Amino acid sequence: MAVDAFAGVSNLSLLAEIPSRATVLDLGSGAGLDSIIAAGRVGPQGQVLAVDFSSAMLSSMEQAVLESGATNIKIFHSDAESLPLEDLSVDVALVNGIFNLNSERSKIFTELARVVKPGGCVFAAELVLREAGSEKVEPTPENWFA
Ligand SMILES: C[S@@+](CC[C@H](N)C(=O)[O-])C[C@H]1O[C@@H](n2cnc3c(N)ncnc32)[C@H](O)[C@@H]1O
Repeated sequence: MAVDAFAGVSNLSLLAEIPSRATVLDLGSGAGLDSIIAAGRVGPQGQVLAVDFSSAMLSSMEQAVLESGATNIKIFHSDAESLPLEDLSVDVALVNGIFNLNSERSKIFTELARVVKPGGCVFAAELVLREAGSEKVEPTPENWFA
């Protein structure tokens, strides 16, 4: 389920430094593949906090987490711009492909700065346009590079 519905832009949960026992935030968790991999890496004494604003994605994720057997994943239905998490409560944040979907990215950065502990890390993967797009492409919300 999580593999079939994966919509990230990198193997972030494999590439990131994730210590055992860490608290990991998976921001824009989608169907949960990064959360499930991170849950294995932090082990039973760590936890993963998965946040997504899409009910459909979270419903797929709940099924995927059940299938995986992971018991250390907590799922939150929330906007990334207003996280239901305490200040300085996260060791590692994974952000796999959500910045380009949001025009108000600065609010997401502000929330990440609020919840990640001093010395913690944010690992983000995003599609980046390296050259100017065609002049014919209008900057609209449907255009990820708007
Ligand atoms: C490109 S998908 C990536 C999903 C997941 N990270 C993965 O690797 O499969 C982006 C995800 O972020 C969620 N998302 C986008 N903007 C969001 C926001 N402002 N707040 C919460 N979730 C958001 C979407 O619902 C979607 O599940």
